[in-house]
Amino acid sequence: MKISFAEPELPRSGALVVGIWEGKALTPAARRLDEATAGVIAHALSAPSRFTGKTDELLPIVAPPSVSVSRIVLAGLGKPESADSRSLQQLGGNLLAHLNAAGEEEATIMIDVADAASLGQAEAAAEIAFGAQLRSYRFDRYKTKQKPEQKASLAHLTVAANGASAMKRAYQPLEKTAEAVFLTRDLVSEPANVIYPETLAAEAERLAEFGVEVETLDEYKMRELGMNALLAVGQGSARPPRTVVMQWHGAKSSEGARSQPLAFVGKGVTFDTGGISIKPAAGMEDMKWDMAGSAVVIGLIRLLAARKAAVNAVGVVGLVENMPSGTAQRPGDIVTSMSGQTIEVLNTDAEGRLVLADALWYCQQRFKPRLIVDLATLTGAVIVALGHHRAGLFSNNDELADRLIEAGKEVGEQVWRLPLADSYDREIDSDAADIKNIGGGRAAGSIIGAQFLQRFIDDVPWAHLDIAGTAWSTKDTATVPKGATAFGVRLLDRLVSQYYEK
Ligand code: BES
Ligand code: MN
Ligand code: ZN
Repeated sequence: MKISFAEPELPRSGALVVGIWEGKALTPAARRLDEATAGVIAHALSAPSRFTGKTDELLPIVAPPSVSVSRIVLAGLGKPESADSRSLQQLGGNLLAHLNAAGEEEATIMIDVADAASLGQAEAAAEIAFGAQLRSYRFDRYKTKQKPEQKASLAHLTVAANGASAMKRAYQPLEKTAEAVFLTRDLVSEPANVIYPETLAAEAERLAEFGVEVETLDEYKMRELGMNALLAVGQGSARPPRTVVMQWHGAKSSEGARSQPLAFVGKGVTFDTGGISIKPAAGMEDMKWDMAGSAVVIGLIRLLAARKAAVNAVGVVGLVENMPSGTAQRPGDIVTSMSGQTIEVLNTDAEGRLVLADALWYCQQRFKPRLIVDLATLTGAVIVALGHHRAGLFSNNDELADRLIEAGKEVGEQVWRLPLADSYDREIDSDAADIKNIGGGRAAGSIIGAQFLQRFIDDVPWAHLDIAGTAWSTKDTATVPKGATAFGVRLLDRLVSQYYEK
Protein backbone atom coordinates (compact mmCIF):
# COMPACT_ATOMS: atom_id res chain seq x y z
CA MET A 1 0.00 0.00 0.00
CA LYS A 2 1.26 3.43 -0.94
CA ILE A 3 0.79 6.27 1.52
CA SER A 4 0.97 9.92 0.54
CA PHE A 5 0.24 13.31 2.05
CA ALA A 6 -1.55 16.16 0.31
CA GLU A 7 -3.19 19.52 0.87
CA PRO A 8 -6.91 19.22 1.65
CA GLU A 9 -8.89 19.03 -1.56
CA LEU A 10 -12.07 17.09 -2.11
CA PRO A 11 -11.10 13.86 -3.93
CA ARG A 12 -13.00 12.85 -7.05
CA SER A 13 -13.04 9.12 -6.41
CA GLY A 14 -12.46 6.47 -3.79
CA ALA A 15 -13.45 6.70 -0.16
CA LEU A 16 -13.32 9.90 1.85
CA VAL A 17 -12.87 9.78 5.61
CA VAL A 18 -13.68 12.69 7.91
CA GLY A 19 -13.54 12.91 11.70
CA ILE A 20 -16.37 13.35 14.20
CA TRP A 21 -15.68 14.13 17.86
CA GLU A 22 -17.58 12.33 20.59
CA GLY A 23 -21.06 13.85 20.93
CA LYS A 24 -21.32 14.14 17.12
CA ALA A 25 -19.32 17.38 16.86
CA LEU A 26 -18.00 17.89 13.34
CA THR A 27 -14.31 18.57 12.64
CA PRO A 28 -13.66 21.43 10.16
CA ALA A 29 -13.26 19.06 7.19
CA ALA A 30 -16.47 17.25 8.11
CA ARG A 31 -18.24 20.60 8.27
CA ARG A 32 -16.95 21.61 4.83
CA LEU A 33 -18.03 18.27 3.40
CA ASP A 34 -21.45 18.66 4.98
CA GLU A 35 -21.81 22.03 3.24
CA ALA A 36 -20.58 20.65 -0.09
CA THR A 37 -23.15 17.85 0.06
CA ALA A 38 -26.11 19.92 1.26
CA GLY A 39 -26.17 18.23 4.64
CA VAL A 40 -25.40 14.56 3.94
CA ILE A 41 -23.33 14.25 7.09
CA ALA A 42 -25.83 15.88 9.40
CA HIS A 43 -28.49 13.68 7.82
CA ALA A 44 -26.45 10.51 8.41
CA LEU A 45 -25.76 11.52 12.00
CA SER A 46 -29.45 12.05 12.66
CA ALA A 47 -30.46 8.62 11.32
CA PRO A 48 -30.93 5.94 13.98
CA SER A 49 -27.52 4.38 14.72
CA ARG A 50 -25.18 3.70 17.60
CA PHE A 51 -22.56 6.04 16.19
CA THR A 52 -21.80 8.90 18.59
CA GLY A 53 -18.21 9.73 17.63
CA LYS A 54 -16.45 7.58 20.22
CA THR A 55 -13.10 6.07 19.27
CA ASP A 56 -13.36 2.81 17.31
CA GLU A 57 -16.74 3.84 15.86
CA LEU A 58 -17.03 4.12 12.07
CA LEU A 59 -20.15 5.09 10.12
CA PRO A 60 -20.07 4.50 6.35
CA ILE A 61 -22.26 6.47 3.93
CA VAL A 62 -22.19 4.56 0.66
CA ALA A 63 -22.60 6.37 -2.71
CA PRO A 64 -23.36 9.79 -1.18
CA PRO A 65 -25.30 12.28 -3.32
CA SER A 66 -23.75 15.48 -4.78
CA VAL A 67 -20.13 14.27 -4.62
CA SER A 68 -18.33 11.75 -6.82
CA VAL A 69 -16.58 9.77 -4.07
CA SER A 70 -17.69 6.15 -3.66
CA ARG A 71 -18.28 6.49 0.05
CA ILE A 72 -17.86 8.79 2.99
CA VAL A 73 -16.71 7.24 6.26
CA LEU A 74 -17.37 9.14 9.45
CA ALA A 75 -14.64 8.23 11.92
CA GLY A 76 -15.17 8.62 15.67
CA LEU A 77 -12.31 10.51 17.31
CA GLY A 78 -13.44 10.34 20.94
CA LYS A 79 -12.91 13.33 23.21
CA PRO A 80 -10.39 15.95 22.03
CA GLU A 81 -8.50 15.85 25.34
CA SER A 82 -7.90 12.10 25.06
CA ALA A 83 -6.74 12.09 21.42
CA ASP A 84 -3.09 11.05 21.50
CA SER A 85 -0.61 9.34 19.23
CA ARG A 86 -1.79 5.89 20.24
CA SER A 87 -5.52 6.58 19.70
CA LEU A 88 -4.75 8.04 16.26
CA GLN A 89 -2.64 5.01 15.30
CA GLN A 90 -5.54 2.80 16.28
CA LEU A 91 -7.90 4.92 14.24
CA GLY A 92 -5.59 4.55 11.22
CA GLY A 93 -5.42 0.79 11.72
CA ASN A 94 -9.16 0.38 12.12
CA LEU A 95 -9.81 2.51 9.03
CA LEU A 96 -7.39 0.45 6.97
CA ALA A 97 -9.19 -2.76 7.90
CA HIS A 98 -12.59 -1.18 7.26
CA LEU A 99 -11.63 0.13 3.81
CA ASN A 100 -10.11 -3.20 2.80
CA ALA A 101 -13.21 -5.07 3.95
CA ALA A 102 -15.32 -2.64 1.90
CA GLY A 103 -13.23 -3.31 -1.21
CA GLU A 104 -12.11 0.30 -1.68
CA GLU A 105 -8.98 0.76 -3.80
CA GLU A 106 -8.13 4.30 -2.85
CA ALA A 107 -9.01 6.49 0.08
CA THR A 108 -8.44 10.00 1.33
CA ILE A 109 -8.37 10.69 5.04
CA MET A 110 -9.18 14.31 5.89
CA ILE A 111 -8.92 14.44 9.61
CA ASP A 112 -8.06 17.83 11.07
CA VAL A 113 -7.77 17.65 14.83
CA ALA A 114 -5.40 20.53 15.49
CA ASP A 115 -8.08 23.06 16.46
CA ALA A 116 -9.32 20.86 19.32
CA ALA A 117 -6.65 18.33 20.35
CA SER A 118 -3.24 18.96 21.90
CA LEU A 119 -1.42 17.21 19.04
CA GLY A 120 -0.22 19.22 16.06
CA GLN A 121 -1.81 18.50 12.70
CA ALA A 122 1.34 17.13 11.10
CA GLU A 123 1.96 14.75 13.98
CA ALA A 124 -1.67 13.62 14.08
CA ALA A 125 -1.73 12.91 10.35
CA ALA A 126 1.53 10.98 10.55
CA GLU A 127 0.24 8.84 13.42
CA ILE A 128 -2.94 7.96 11.50
CA ALA A 129 -0.84 6.96 8.49
CA PHE A 130 1.50 4.95 10.72
CA GLY A 131 -1.41 3.02 12.26
CA ALA A 132 -2.77 2.21 8.82
CA GLN A 133 0.66 1.10 7.64
CA LEU A 134 1.20 -1.18 10.66
CA ARG A 135 -2.20 -2.82 10.11
CA SER A 136 -1.58 -3.34 6.39
CA TYR A 137 1.10 -5.98 7.03
CA ARG A 138 0.48 -9.34 5.39
CA PHE A 139 2.66 -12.42 5.17
CA ASP A 140 1.41 -13.97 1.94
CA ARG A 141 4.65 -14.80 0.18
CA TYR A 142 3.71 -18.48 -0.02
CA LYS A 143 0.11 -18.04 -1.15
CA THR A 144 0.23 -18.60 -4.88
CA LYS A 145 -3.49 -18.93 -5.56
CA GLN A 146 -5.12 -15.92 -3.94
CA LYS A 147 -8.30 -14.69 -5.60
CA PRO A 148 -8.65 -10.92 -5.97
CA GLU A 149 -11.18 -10.76 -3.16
CA GLN A 150 -8.68 -12.46 -0.84
CA LYS A 151 -6.08 -9.78 -1.44
CA ALA A 152 -6.01 -6.36 0.17
CA SER A 153 -7.97 -3.97 -2.06
CA LEU A 154 -6.63 -0.66 -0.78
CA ALA A 155 -3.66 0.30 -2.93
CA HIS A 156 -3.39 3.99 -2.18
CA LEU A 157 -4.06 5.98 0.96
CA THR A 158 -3.80 9.77 1.03
CA VAL A 159 -3.82 11.77 4.22
CA ALA A 160 -4.98 15.27 3.32
CA ALA A 161 -4.68 18.31 5.55
CA ASN A 162 -2.97 21.69 5.65
CA GLY A 163 0.82 21.39 5.50
CA ALA A 164 1.62 18.36 3.35
CA SER A 165 5.37 18.78 3.65
CA ALA A 166 5.24 18.99 7.47
CA MET A 167 3.14 15.81 7.51
CA LYS A 168 5.66 14.06 5.28
CA ARG A 169 8.49 15.09 7.55
CA ALA A 170 6.63 13.87 10.63
CA TYR A 171 5.96 10.55 8.92
CA GLN A 172 9.58 9.76 7.98
CA PRO A 173 10.74 8.26 11.31
CA LEU A 174 7.45 6.39 11.65
CA GLU A 175 7.85 4.88 8.21
CA LYS A 176 11.27 3.60 9.25
CA THR A 177 9.69 2.13 12.35
CA ALA A 178 7.09 0.34 10.25
CA GLU A 179 9.85 -1.07 8.02
CA ALA A 180 11.70 -2.44 11.06
CA VAL A 181 8.48 -3.91 12.46
CA PHE A 182 7.79 -5.58 9.10
CA LEU A 183 11.28 -7.09 8.98
CA THR A 184 10.75 -8.56 12.44
CA ARG A 185 7.29 -9.87 11.49
CA ASP A 186 8.70 -11.45 8.33
CA LEU A 187 11.52 -13.21 10.19
CA VAL A 188 9.11 -14.53 12.83
CA SER A 189 6.56 -15.67 10.23
CA GLU A 190 9.03 -17.59 8.06
CA PRO A 191 8.97 -21.34 8.65
CA ALA A 192 11.90 -23.16 10.23
CA ASN A 193 13.00 -24.77 6.96
CA VAL A 194 13.67 -21.26 5.66
CA ILE A 195 14.86 -19.45 8.80
CA TYR A 196 17.45 -21.45 10.77
CA PRO A 197 20.61 -20.25 12.51
CA GLU A 198 22.69 -19.69 9.38
CA THR A 199 19.94 -17.97 7.39
CA LEU A 200 18.84 -15.85 10.34
CA ALA A 201 22.47 -14.80 10.83
CA ALA A 202 22.59 -13.89 7.15
CA GLU A 203 19.49 -11.70 7.62
CA ALA A 204 21.17 -9.94 10.54
CA GLU A 205 24.30 -9.44 8.45
CA ARG A 206 22.23 -7.41 6.01
CA LEU A 207 22.08 -4.64 8.63
CA ALA A 208 25.59 -3.73 7.49
CA GLU A 209 23.80 -1.83 4.69
CA PHE A 210 22.65 0.64 7.35
CA GLY A 211 26.09 1.08 8.86
CA VAL A 212 25.70 -1.54 11.60
CA GLU A 213 28.88 -3.46 12.49
CA VAL A 214 27.84 -7.12 12.34
CA GLU A 215 29.88 -10.16 13.40
CA THR A 216 28.81 -13.78 13.35
CA LEU A 217 30.34 -16.31 15.74
CA ASP A 218 30.29 -19.86 14.40
CA GLU A 219 30.30 -23.06 16.46
CA TYR A 220 34.11 -23.20 16.59
CA LYS A 221 34.44 -19.66 17.84
CA MET A 222 31.74 -20.30 20.44
CA ARG A 223 33.52 -23.46 21.57
CA GLU A 224 36.68 -21.42 22.02
CA LEU A 225 34.77 -18.86 24.09
CA GLY A 226 33.29 -21.62 26.27
CA MET A 227 29.66 -21.06 25.30
CA ASN A 228 28.84 -24.68 26.09
CA ALA A 229 25.32 -24.11 27.36
CA LEU A 230 24.25 -22.57 24.06
CA LEU A 231 26.16 -25.19 22.07
CA ALA A 232 24.53 -28.03 24.03
CA VAL A 233 21.10 -26.89 22.86
CA GLY A 234 22.23 -26.90 19.24
CA GLN A 235 24.14 -30.18 19.29
CA GLY A 236 21.16 -32.32 18.30
CA SER A 237 20.53 -30.36 15.12
CA ALA A 238 21.98 -30.76 11.64
CA ARG A 239 21.92 -26.95 11.46
CA PRO A 240 24.94 -25.44 13.21
CA PRO A 241 24.31 -22.67 15.78
CA ARG A 242 25.36 -19.04 15.45
CA THR A 243 25.67 -16.00 17.67
CA VAL A 244 25.36 -12.64 15.95
CA VAL A 245 26.64 -9.37 17.40
CA MET A 246 25.26 -6.15 15.95
CA GLN A 247 26.78 -2.82 16.99
CA TRP A 248 25.31 0.56 16.18
CA HIS A 249 27.65 3.42 17.02
CA GLY A 250 25.50 6.52 16.68
CA ALA A 251 26.32 8.56 19.81
CA LYS A 252 28.57 11.59 19.50
CA SER A 253 32.02 10.77 20.85
CA SER A 254 31.87 13.70 23.29
CA GLU A 255 29.17 12.02 25.30
CA GLY A 256 31.48 10.30 27.78
CA ALA A 257 29.72 7.67 29.86
CA ARG A 258 27.00 7.58 27.25
CA SER A 259 29.39 5.89 24.87
CA GLN A 260 28.81 2.67 26.82
CA PRO A 261 26.12 0.93 24.81
CA LEU A 262 22.61 -0.12 25.73
CA ALA A 263 22.50 -3.88 25.12
CA PHE A 264 19.70 -6.09 23.81
CA VAL A 265 19.90 -9.86 23.84
CA GLY A 266 17.45 -12.13 22.03
CA LYS A 267 16.53 -15.79 22.25
CA GLY A 268 16.76 -17.20 18.75
CA VAL A 269 15.61 -20.81 18.89
CA THR A 270 14.67 -21.19 15.23
CA PHE A 271 12.67 -24.30 16.07
CA ASP A 272 11.96 -25.78 19.48
CA THR A 273 10.91 -29.42 19.39
CA GLY A 274 11.79 -29.66 23.08
CA GLY A 275 14.73 -31.90 22.22
CA ILE A 276 14.81 -35.29 23.97
CA SER A 277 12.23 -33.89 26.44
CA ILE A 278 10.10 -33.69 23.32
CA LYS A 279 6.95 -31.57 23.06
CA PRO A 280 3.54 -33.03 22.12
CA ALA A 281 2.69 -32.90 18.40
CA ALA A 282 -0.35 -30.64 18.74
CA GLY A 283 0.67 -27.03 18.21
CA MET A 284 4.37 -27.79 17.83
CA GLU A 285 4.37 -25.76 14.58
CA ASP A 286 4.13 -22.65 16.76
CA MET A 287 7.70 -23.26 17.80
CA LYS A 288 8.91 -21.78 14.52
CA TRP A 289 8.44 -18.44 16.27
CA ASP A 290 10.63 -19.37 19.22
CA MET A 291 13.19 -16.99 17.69
CA ALA A 292 10.95 -13.94 18.11
CA GLY A 293 13.21 -12.39 20.76
CA SER A 294 16.11 -12.39 18.33
CA ALA A 295 13.96 -11.02 15.50
CA VAL A 296 12.92 -8.11 17.73
CA VAL A 297 16.56 -7.35 18.51
CA ILE A 298 17.44 -7.44 14.79
CA GLY A 299 14.48 -5.15 13.97
CA LEU A 300 15.37 -2.74 16.76
CA ILE A 301 19.02 -2.38 15.71
CA ARG A 302 17.93 -1.90 12.11
CA LEU A 303 15.53 0.83 13.21
CA LEU A 304 18.13 2.73 15.25
CA ALA A 305 20.57 2.57 12.36
CA ALA A 306 18.02 3.46 9.67
CA ARG A 307 17.08 6.51 11.70
CA LYS A 308 20.73 7.32 12.42
CA ALA A 309 19.78 7.57 16.09
CA ALA A 310 22.40 9.36 18.20
CA VAL A 311 22.78 6.37 20.50
CA ASN A 312 25.13 3.44 21.04
CA ALA A 313 23.39 0.09 21.06
CA VAL A 314 24.46 -3.49 20.73
CA GLY A 315 22.32 -6.50 19.87
CA VAL A 316 23.38 -10.07 20.61
CA VAL A 317 21.28 -12.98 19.37
CA GLY A 318 21.87 -16.65 20.17
CA LEU A 319 20.63 -18.77 17.27
CA VAL A 320 20.09 -22.52 17.64
CA GLU A 321 17.69 -25.25 16.62
CA ASN A 322 16.53 -27.54 19.44
CA MET A 323 16.17 -31.05 17.97
CA PRO A 324 16.12 -34.61 19.30
CA SER A 325 18.70 -36.88 17.68
CA GLY A 326 21.58 -39.21 18.43
CA THR A 327 23.77 -36.21 19.11
CA ALA A 328 21.22 -34.28 21.20
CA GLN A 329 21.89 -33.46 24.82
CA ARG A 330 20.21 -35.77 27.35
CA PRO A 331 18.25 -34.94 30.50
CA GLY A 332 20.79 -35.08 33.30
CA ASP A 333 23.70 -33.79 31.23
CA ILE A 334 25.87 -31.24 33.01
CA VAL A 335 27.40 -28.41 30.98
CA THR A 336 29.86 -25.68 31.91
CA SER A 337 28.58 -22.30 30.79
CA MET A 338 30.79 -19.45 29.61
CA SER A 339 30.46 -17.88 33.06
CA GLY A 340 32.10 -20.97 34.58
CA GLN A 341 28.91 -21.99 36.38
CA THR A 342 27.85 -25.58 35.76
CA ILE A 343 24.27 -26.36 34.75
CA GLU A 344 22.41 -29.61 35.19
CA VAL A 345 20.02 -29.90 32.23
CA LEU A 346 17.05 -31.73 33.72
CA ASN A 347 14.68 -30.81 30.90
CA THR A 348 15.98 -30.21 27.38
CA ASP A 349 12.83 -28.20 26.63
CA ALA A 350 13.97 -25.47 29.03
CA GLU A 351 16.52 -24.52 26.36
CA GLY A 352 15.98 -20.79 25.94
CA ARG A 353 17.58 -20.05 29.30
CA LEU A 354 20.64 -22.12 28.32
CA VAL A 355 21.05 -20.08 25.14
CA LEU A 356 20.58 -16.81 27.00
CA ALA A 357 22.94 -17.78 29.83
CA ASP A 358 25.86 -17.67 27.43
CA ALA A 359 24.57 -14.84 25.22
CA LEU A 360 24.00 -12.61 28.29
CA TRP A 361 27.38 -13.45 29.77
CA TYR A 362 29.21 -12.85 26.50
CA CYS A 363 27.43 -9.53 26.03
CA GLN A 364 28.26 -8.25 29.51
CA GLN A 365 31.91 -9.35 29.44
CA ARG A 366 32.60 -7.90 26.06
CA PHE A 367 30.64 -4.64 26.13
CA LYS A 368 30.18 -3.61 29.77
CA PRO A 369 26.82 -2.12 28.76
CA ARG A 370 24.93 0.63 30.62
CA LEU A 371 22.00 -1.72 30.83
CA ILE A 372 20.88 -4.97 29.30
CA VAL A 373 17.41 -6.05 28.22
CA ASP A 374 16.73 -9.57 27.01
CA LEU A 375 13.69 -10.75 25.09
CA ALA A 376 12.63 -14.37 24.93
CA THR A 377 9.65 -16.58 24.24
CA LEU A 378 10.81 -18.28 27.41
CA THR A 379 7.87 -19.94 29.16
CA GLY A 380 4.38 -21.21 28.48
CA ALA A 381 3.69 -20.22 32.08
CA VAL A 382 3.73 -16.50 31.23
CA ILE A 383 0.71 -17.14 28.99
CA VAL A 384 -1.07 -18.78 31.92
CA ALA A 385 -0.25 -15.75 34.08
CA LEU A 386 -0.84 -12.82 31.71
CA GLY A 387 -2.47 -14.21 28.58
CA HIS A 388 -1.70 -12.38 25.37
CA HIS A 389 -2.20 -8.82 26.58
CA ARG A 390 0.98 -8.21 28.58
CA ALA A 391 4.53 -9.49 28.40
CA GLY A 392 6.15 -10.57 31.65
CA LEU A 393 8.75 -8.11 32.93
CA PHE A 394 11.46 -9.03 35.42
CA SER A 395 14.15 -6.63 36.52
CA ASN A 396 16.85 -6.03 39.13
CA ASN A 397 16.40 -2.27 38.68
CA ASP A 398 13.28 -0.26 39.53
CA GLU A 399 14.09 2.67 37.30
CA LEU A 400 14.55 0.46 34.25
CA ALA A 401 11.38 -1.49 35.08
CA ASP A 402 9.34 1.71 35.49
CA ARG A 403 10.61 3.10 32.23
CA LEU A 404 9.68 -0.08 30.39
CA ILE A 405 6.20 -0.02 31.90
CA GLU A 406 5.77 3.66 30.87
CA ALA A 407 7.15 3.12 27.37
CA GLY A 408 4.88 0.11 26.95
CA LYS A 409 1.78 2.18 27.68
CA GLU A 410 2.86 4.86 25.23
CA VAL A 411 3.34 2.51 22.29
CA GLY A 412 0.67 -0.06 23.13
CA GLU A 413 3.13 -2.88 23.92
CA GLN A 414 2.38 -3.38 27.56
CA VAL A 415 4.47 -5.20 30.13
CA TRP A 416 3.61 -6.35 33.64
CA ARG A 417 6.24 -6.74 36.33
CA LEU A 418 6.55 -10.03 38.19
CA PRO A 419 8.83 -10.64 41.17
CA LEU A 420 12.36 -11.92 41.58
CA ALA A 421 13.40 -13.15 45.04
CA ASP A 422 15.90 -15.41 46.81
CA SER A 423 13.15 -17.81 47.83
CA TYR A 424 12.48 -18.56 44.14
CA ASP A 425 16.16 -18.62 43.36
CA ARG A 426 16.78 -21.49 45.80
CA GLU A 427 14.53 -23.71 43.69
CA ILE A 428 17.14 -23.90 40.95
CA ASP A 429 19.99 -25.04 43.21
CA SER A 430 21.12 -28.40 41.84
CA ASP A 431 22.27 -31.46 43.77
CA ALA A 432 24.86 -32.29 41.15
CA ALA A 433 25.91 -28.91 39.67
CA ASP A 434 25.73 -25.19 40.46
CA ILE A 435 22.31 -24.71 38.92
CA LYS A 436 19.57 -26.85 37.38
CA ASN A 437 17.55 -25.59 34.44
CA ILE A 438 14.09 -26.25 35.87
CA GLY A 439 12.45 -25.90 39.31
CA GLY A 440 10.74 -28.62 41.26
CA GLY A 441 7.28 -28.46 39.69
CA ARG A 442 4.98 -26.33 37.59
CA ALA A 443 4.65 -23.49 40.09
CA ALA A 444 5.88 -20.00 39.13
CA GLY A 445 7.42 -21.25 35.88
CA SER A 446 8.13 -17.79 34.43
CA ILE A 447 9.75 -16.54 37.63
CA ILE A 448 11.94 -19.64 37.80
CA GLY A 449 13.05 -18.97 34.22
CA ALA A 450 13.89 -15.36 35.11
CA GLN A 451 15.78 -16.42 38.25
CA PHE A 452 17.87 -18.74 36.10
CA LEU A 453 18.79 -15.86 33.79
CA GLN A 454 19.63 -13.64 36.75
CA ARG A 455 22.36 -16.08 37.78
CA PHE A 456 24.15 -14.91 34.64
CA ILE A 457 23.74 -11.20 35.34
CA ASP A 458 26.73 -9.45 36.79
CA ASP A 459 25.83 -6.20 38.56
CA VAL A 460 24.28 -4.31 35.62
CA PRO A 461 20.74 -2.91 35.33
CA TRP A 462 18.91 -5.74 33.61
CA ALA A 463 15.40 -6.51 32.48
CA HIS A 464 14.01 -9.73 31.05
CA LEU A 465 10.88 -9.66 28.89
CA ASP A 466 9.09 -12.98 28.56
CA ILE A 467 7.25 -12.50 25.27
CA ALA A 468 5.87 -16.04 24.86
CA GLY A 469 2.31 -14.68 25.07
CA THR A 470 2.75 -11.55 22.97
CA ALA A 471 5.06 -12.51 20.09
CA TRP A 472 2.26 -14.08 18.07
CA SER A 473 -1.40 -13.16 17.91
CA THR A 474 -4.34 -15.30 16.84
CA LYS A 475 -6.60 -12.22 16.56
CA ASP A 476 -6.42 -8.96 14.67
CA THR A 477 -6.03 -5.83 16.77
CA ALA A 478 -6.11 -2.23 15.51
CA THR A 479 -2.47 -1.97 14.49
CA VAL A 480 -1.41 -5.63 14.57
CA PRO A 481 -2.96 -8.11 12.14
CA LYS A 482 -3.00 -11.68 13.44
CA GLY A 483 0.31 -13.50 13.23
CA ALA A 484 3.74 -12.19 14.18
CA THR A 485 3.40 -9.00 16.21
CA ALA A 486 6.99 -7.73 16.50
CA PHE A 487 6.11 -6.94 20.13
CA GLY A 488 9.08 -5.17 21.66
CA VAL A 489 10.49 -3.24 18.70
CA ARG A 490 8.54 -0.06 19.40
CA LEU A 491 8.78 -0.49 23.16
CA LEU A 492 12.56 -0.74 23.16
CA ASP A 493 12.89 2.04 20.61
CA ARG A 494 11.02 4.29 23.10
CA LEU A 495 13.23 3.07 25.92
CA VAL A 496 16.40 3.85 23.99
CA SER A 497 15.31 7.39 23.21
CA GLN A 498 14.37 7.94 26.86
CA TYR A 499 17.85 6.92 27.99
CA TYR A 500 19.44 9.30 25.55
CA GLU A 501 17.08 12.24 26.14
CA LYS A 502 17.99 12.26 29.81
N1 BES B 1 9.69 -21.97 23.75
C1 BES B 1 9.12 -22.53 24.92
C2 BES B 1 8.11 -21.61 25.60
C3 BES B 1 6.87 -21.29 24.83
C4 BES B 1 5.72 -22.03 25.02
C5 BES B 1 6.83 -20.23 23.95
C6 BES B 1 4.57 -21.72 24.32
C7 BES B 1 5.68 -19.91 23.27
C8 BES B 1 4.54 -20.67 23.46
C9 BES B 1 10.22 -22.86 25.93
O1 BES B 1 11.43 -23.23 25.38
C10 BES B 1 9.74 -24.02 26.74
O2 BES B 1 9.57 -25.06 26.19
N2 BES B 1 9.53 -23.78 28.02
C11 BES B 1 9.06 -24.80 28.89
C12 BES B 1 9.84 -24.68 30.18
C13 BES B 1 9.65 -25.86 31.12
C14 BES B 1 10.24 -27.11 30.52
C15 BES B 1 10.30 -25.51 32.43
C16 BES B 1 7.58 -24.57 29.13
O3 BES B 1 7.14 -23.42 29.15
O4 BES B 1 6.86 -25.55 29.22
MN1 MN C 1 11.51 -25.32 24.97
ZN1 ZN D 1 11.85 -22.52 23.52
